[in-house]
Amino acid sequence: MNKSPHEYLSLSMSKSKFTVTAALPYANGPLHLGHVAGVYLPADIFVRFLRMNGHDVAFICGSDEHGAAITLRAKKEGITPKEIVDKYDTIIGKAFKDFEISFDIYHRTSAEIHHKTSQDFFLKLHEKGKFTEEVSEQYYDEEYQQFLADRYIVGECPKCQNPNAYGDQCEKCGTDLSPTELVNPTSTLSGKTPILKTTSHWYLPMDRHESWLREWIKEGTLDGVKQHEPKAWRNQVIGQCMSWIDGGLHSRAMTRDLDWGVKVPLPNADGKVLYVWLDAPIGYISATKQWALDNQKNWADYWTGDRKLIHFIGKDNIVFHAVIFPILLKDHGDLILPDNVPASEFLNLEGDKLSTSRNWAVWLHEYLASYPDKADELKYVLTSIAPETKDSEFTWKEYQTRINSELADILGNFVNRALVLTQKYYEGAVPEMAQIPQRISKLIYAYKFREAQAEAMNLARLGNKYLADQEPWKVVKTDPERVKTIMHIALQITANLSIVLQPFLPETARKLADFMNVHTDQWSDAGRGDLIAEGTLTREPSILFRKIEDELVEAEVAKLKSTVMVESTFEPQKEEVTFDDFSKMDIRLGTILEAEKVEKADKLLKLLVDTGIDKRTIVSGIAAHYAPEDVIGKTVSVLLNLAPRKIRGIESQGMILMAEDAEGNLSFMVPEKGFNAGGGIC
Ligand code: MF3
Ligand code: ZN
Repeated sequence: MNKSPHEYLSLSMSKSKFTVTAALPYANGPLHLGHVAGVYLPADIFVRFLRMNGHDVAFICGSDEHGAAITLRAKKEGITPKEIVDKYDTIIGKAFKDFEISFDIYHRTSAEIHHKTSQDFFLKLHEKGKFTEEVSEQYYDEEYQQFLADRYIVGECPKCQNPNAYGDQCEKCGTDLSPTELVNPTSTLSGKTPILKTTSHWYLPMDRHESWLREWIKEGTLDGVKQHEPKAWRNQVIGQCMSWIDGGLHSRAMTRDLDWGVKVPLPNADGKVLYVWLDAPIGYISATKQWALDNQKNWADYWTGDRKLIHFIGKDNIVFHAVIFPILLKDHGDLILPDNVPASEFLNLEGDKLSTSRNWAVWLHEYLASYPDKADELKYVLTSIAPETKDSEFTWKEYQTRINSELADILGNFVNRALVLTQKYYEGAVPEMAQIPQRISKLIYAYKFREAQAEAMNLARLGNKYLADQEPWKVVKTDPERVKTIMHIALQITANLSIVLQPFLPETARKLADFMNVHTDQWSDAGRGDLIAEGTLTREPSILFRKIEDELVEAEVAKLKSTVMVESTFEPQKEEVTFDDFSKMDIRLGTILEAEKVEKADKLLKLLVDTGIDKRTIVSGIAAHYAPEDVIGKTVSVLLNLAPRKIRGIESQGMILMAEDAEGNLSFMVPEKGFNAGGGIC
């Protein structure tokens, strides 16, 4: 008979060794529910379960602190990249801790051990001839004197015409791009059109790797030797890798001209750093090293031999973890390749895409601050709707329903009844039920956390139904002996819940264990009918889950709507100027005396302006917005000491200051009180 993929897996996993990683979040913003539901929560469930089964596990994560994601955010907030990563590393680290994501280490790529580890990695590949050095022309911002890779450049996507595609990717259609493919490229630093300039970089010639990659991803073998079970990989992961490989593998630059990142450890590489997607995954290794140092272990045990390396990620990270990093690991030679890359799809929010830039998001640290005792409630809801194989959606209404009618009515109610009635009567005999834990186990090994949690809830459902059917509160009057049995069974179910819920709802499981006075963290105890012994003293329970009021739902939806931002089309803040720079500008109020169109120039008006000290000619680009007769007599702001320039043969002796809105409409900048010309601006 054919075995289903998860049966194959669970059988082969009797006692294994695992290194489990969760994508290093960029330290450029807080975590939202999409990150949690897609990556960190499933990884945590998996790891908690593995530990309960006695597997040897290292659970690795940390902040990704390099790349344009960081430097651009720093520019936006007007602080240094170092300040940005320190700020968000703290916020993210605390949120993970408060949410009880049970990493063995949460590290940082700014750590020295990481810089050293990634430089050594780079050097090893360099010495083995795994990179090629290539000189090419790349876009360069003359004003900022900087090459423009990745997110430093935007332009029109050649595939879908999205006008705001980045130099590395179009976020609208998902295509991978290189800066030279963009139509009408502009620098995100100066907003200007860049020039081309030659530079040299180290490239990873990925085309060399096509044939083994295909075999490894599709068949799970390397030189004919079994490495992993491809049936256990999610379809969308294999699909995305294959379509990427089918599209042709090219050389990809592994270095960048930037001053933020891990320095390229070679002579003549001044001003060059490693590509963030080279150094970040190596962050898994350097974090393991730090953890091993802190715990008297040998880091290499976690990256070699018969150990399973599992990368939990979101779907936008698939090719980096299932193609590029495996190439690097194989080129390195001593290290294992991933056994599985369980990638999630995206989580939407209240009918719309989650968006950090529009602030359409529920932030984990804010949730935990508002509801510090509702971590498990959120875990339950997020696992129930996890975007495992397709995009899914979080709504506060569903949050309420799942908590009220599942957690509270089924699990909470059952446990409460079983314990309250036990307080009232006595206790009884042994139930028989070994199926559910096994089903949960198979599902977790198959990375199906949604179904696994639903199975665990089935145990509570069963308990609930059992009490409802048996009606011990009635039977107690006629057959008190039978009630003892009923209650004993109900209590064994409750004790079992305290085990099978541990991977999903660790805090709730702890509470159950305390109520019941049964403490075990061994998965193999689940399914036993004698978990709780006769005579064990149970406690009077506290309420497990409080119901979510409509007010909470309304308030959260209102909060989202009131804080959502319109996508900004404005340029980022320009470079800082000193007060002295500013006070050099002589800005005054003037009156327009005469105005006429400039011949053969649609946009220009020639103005004669009374500045209070003289009358001068100024050419202004406002003809598309104002007719000459509209502006005569107007009081306007004028920059007087701008060096005169010839525009269309006319010498312009200053500049009229205008305000521009998002649609490009222009308006004069005039004092709110209707002053007359001649005054200065201070
Ligand atoms: N910082 C990346 C992101 O948020 C993920 C990096 S994962 C690692 O998309 F492999 F590079 F570590
Ligand atoms: Zn596109």
